[in-house]
Amino acid sequence: MLEDLSQSSTSVSLLVAVVGLLVFHYFYSSLSSQEMRKEPPGPTRLPLLGNLLQVDLKRLDRSLFDLSKKYGPVFTVYFGLQKVVVLAGYRTVRQALVDHAEEFGDREVTPIFYDVNKGHGIIFSNGDSWKEMRRFALTALKHFGMGKRITEGIIIEECHYLIEELEQLEGKAFNNTQAISYAISNVLATLMFGKRYEYGDPVLQTLVDKDHEAVHLFGTASILIYNMFPWLGPFLQNWKDMMAIVRGNKEILKNIIADLKETLNPEMHRCFADLFLTRKINVEESEIKDSHYHDENLVSSVLDLLAAGTDTTASTLQWGLLFMAKYPHIQDQVQEELSRVVGSRQVRVEDRKNLPYTDAVIHEIQRMGNVSPTAIPHKTTQDVTFQGYFIKKGTTVFPLLTSVLYDESEWESPETFNPSHFLDKEGKFIRREAFLPFSAGRRVCLGESLAKMEIFLFFTSLLQRFRFTPAPGVTEEELDLSPVVGLAVSPAPHKLCAVSRE
Ligand code: HEM
Repeated sequence: MLEDLSQSSTSVSLLVAVVGLLVFHYFYSSLSSQEMRKEPPGPTRLPLLGNLLQVDLKRLDRSLFDLSKKYGPVFTVYFGLQKVVVLAGYRTVRQALVDHAEEFGDREVTPIFYDVNKGHGIIFSNGDSWKEMRRFALTALKHFGMGKRITEGIIIEECHYLIEELEQLEGKAFNNTQAISYAISNVLATLMFGKRYEYGDPVLQTLVDKDHEAVHLFGTASILIYNMFPWLGPFLQNWKDMMAIVRGNKEILKNIIADLKETLNPEMHRCFADLFLTRKINVEESEIKDSHYHDENLVSSVLDLLAAGTDTTASTLQWGLLFMAKYPHIQDQVQEELSRVVGSRQVRVEDRKNLPYTDAVIHEIQRMGNVSPTAIPHKTTQDVTFQGYFIKKGTTVFPLLTSVLYDESEWESPETFNPSHFLDKEGKFIRREAFLPFSAGRRVCLGESLAKMEIFLFFTSLLQRFRFTPAPGVTEEELDLSPVVGLAVSPAPHKLCAVSRE
């Protein structure tokens, strides 16, 4: 009996010990995994709506920038049920996109982006197809001289057409959106299809005007809502308009490509499309299976390059002219430097190094213009622990470029147009690390060197020829710098005068 008692008390002690161990293990392991899996903080969310009521969808980048001041450089917001991790500030954005390029390097293909390109092309694709298309586009653009003299020639020719167009207005106030967009688009059209269009040509006008409309629609609240609740699509006018625009523009591109196919000479490439079509024929002949060189990828890539390259560059130039009209003393100094260094001959890319003030002004235009404030959403390719926070594979990530270009710890006066951000005490141009309007890392803008060349040549050529002033009756103070937010951010519609300097 005593033996029984002592045996059962031993079993109870053993049981207690085992249970104790299990409980300890459970609490310890759940605590440590919780600690290891500490997710980025963020504002408390409402069921279904998430944090929608805490952000201004019309100035999403600014709202998120404000939230970063409260929640830190890595934080979470919910758009409806969709979780987004926001990266804020130069150090954090760079660390994620450059030091963890692979982990943060996928594109988030939101429903609207998928509707547009079905995962083809360059901007809204991932995996092998993206890799192949990106590599091909870079090689093809370089083949046609991106960053080299051939492109310089194409841009300079287009500068002359734009100047002619503005001269016809004889200094009268006008909205420069269309003329500038047609000029920028023509540079791309020459590279893509081997031809430029008259500014009055309906093909150019439809492609550019409709693309401009689509870029604006991308940023509207109803398209953001569509991305959260895609089943709402058929009830949303903006979604229906978007789809009609994309269908229309793809049709135009297909017709252009069909014409190029008919006259294709695989020995002599006139443009990007010719190179692609030749590659397609070669791949078909070699019987490689699952090739990425098919018509959908060609149309989508061309559409991507036109869309990504037109509104961003055109908006930057528009910001530039608006800033010059708003700050005439800065315009004076640019024009003085241009007259002193270049005179009246055509500006060339190689002049840039001798134009430090102008170069600084152009950089400041890009910094303040901030035409791509949230970049294009990324997605994590794998689970990642970043700055002590756990971010799951497949999480949407916004690299908040506003918070980089306006980072208070990087810029002396982030909210002021101040070319000195890019000048040293002797007036020499200085590069700034936090100048990232083209983003960074694996998905960095593919057209960066083309865009830089275009902005420099168009801006300087226009300022050599014209003085930009507000419309009669409008003072410089009254010129409105508020932006219109879409996929690219442009100045609100406005009129300026281009007064001939001769
Ligand atoms: C001032 C002009 C421009 C600015 C500010 C700009 C900015 C950007 C930004 C911020 C991104 C997103 C990067 C990211 O996701 O992290 C991007 C992507 C892209 N840009 Fe640009 N861009 C400009 C002009 C151009 C031009 C001229 C072209 C084409 C010729 C172009 C082609 C592209 C493409 C194809 C992508 C997608 C890259 C990918 O997903 O792999 N961009 N750009």
